[in-house]
Amino acid sequence: MDASMLEETVQNPNPYPVLAELEYPDIWHLCVQARDLHWDADRAIDWDELKEFAKTLPQEVRESGAEWWSLRAWMEHGATPYGAERYRQAVFEHLPFEVKQHVVNFIFEELRHHEASWRIAEALGGYQPMPRSDYFKMVIPKFHDEKDERSMSFYGGMAVNTLFEQLSGELLTARYKNAKPKPIRKACELILRDEARHIQFGRILMKRFFEQLSTEEKVMLGEKFSKKLRGSLLNGVYAVVNLPKDERKRAARARSLAAEYHLGATHPDEEVGIIVKALQEIREDVEPYGVPIPEIPEIEGKNAVSLV
Ligand SMILES: [Fe+2]
Ligand SMILES: [Fe+2]
Repeated sequence: MDASMLEETVQNPNPYPVLAELEYPDIWHLCVQARDLHWDADRAIDWDELKEFAKTLPQEVRESGAEWWSLRAWMEHGATPYGAERYRQAVFEHLPFEVKQHVVNFIFEELRHHEASWRIAEALGGYQPMPRSDYFKMVIPKFHDEKDERSMSFYGGMAVNTLFEQLSGELLTARYKNAKPKPIRKACELILRDEARHIQFGRILMKRFFEQLSTEEKVMLGEKFSKKLRGSLLNGVYAVVNLPKDERKRAARARSLAAEYHLGATHPDEEVGIIVKALQEIREDVEPYGVPIPEIPEIEGKNAVSLV
């Protein structure tokens, strides 16, 4: 093999010691729950029922629903490369078995959410494997920036990620409430059940590890949270606030239509309200640990952007 190629190949770590002693019973408890509450996206939901229902919808609505659920699918998929990197890191750092198991469960579950979402899109009007707008093609790959992740400690970074789980959990709850067709409702319900465990993992990490962090690291965690929220999630993933004007109008219209027909979507105005409220709750949650979350000017404070 060419020597320069060898240099680029990252070596597997020395695997020893391969730890088998459970250190964190509360994390292991989440792993046991994940096994007990397993579901199968293909078989748990009646996809034929959804296809039949879709036939009753106007074409534009079917397309809006398909676009919306395709976006949801891309977003769920975005969590899997992030998870894969964390698994790699957990192996390299010889973390306890239950931490590795939780990360593997996390990857598996996010991929299952991805599957449930693309199946909904498929049934409604056709899953879109590529975003239509160039803008989305640009934004989604920025969803996960490994450089940012690596500047945080393993547990600090994972705790930050679960703050986003909390935020997306709030949005998903609103979408669950919006959903009328039984198959979409069921998918939202099952996804939410998994997300509750992901959020719980974050709470465990905060309780166990945040006290040991330095003030600088706590400030950095708050900044990373804000950067990710502003840089990618408000750009059409969680909400349409930071999209360029034309695309914002188009995306907002598609979402509104999907929400109006109760396809498990949220209206753009409603989304911002949910995010602002969830942000307040997150601030209260991390406050006892001294993690400051900067103001998000697009959606908080007097300069918040008005929508659509
Ligand atoms: Fe998910
Ligand atoms: Fe999740």
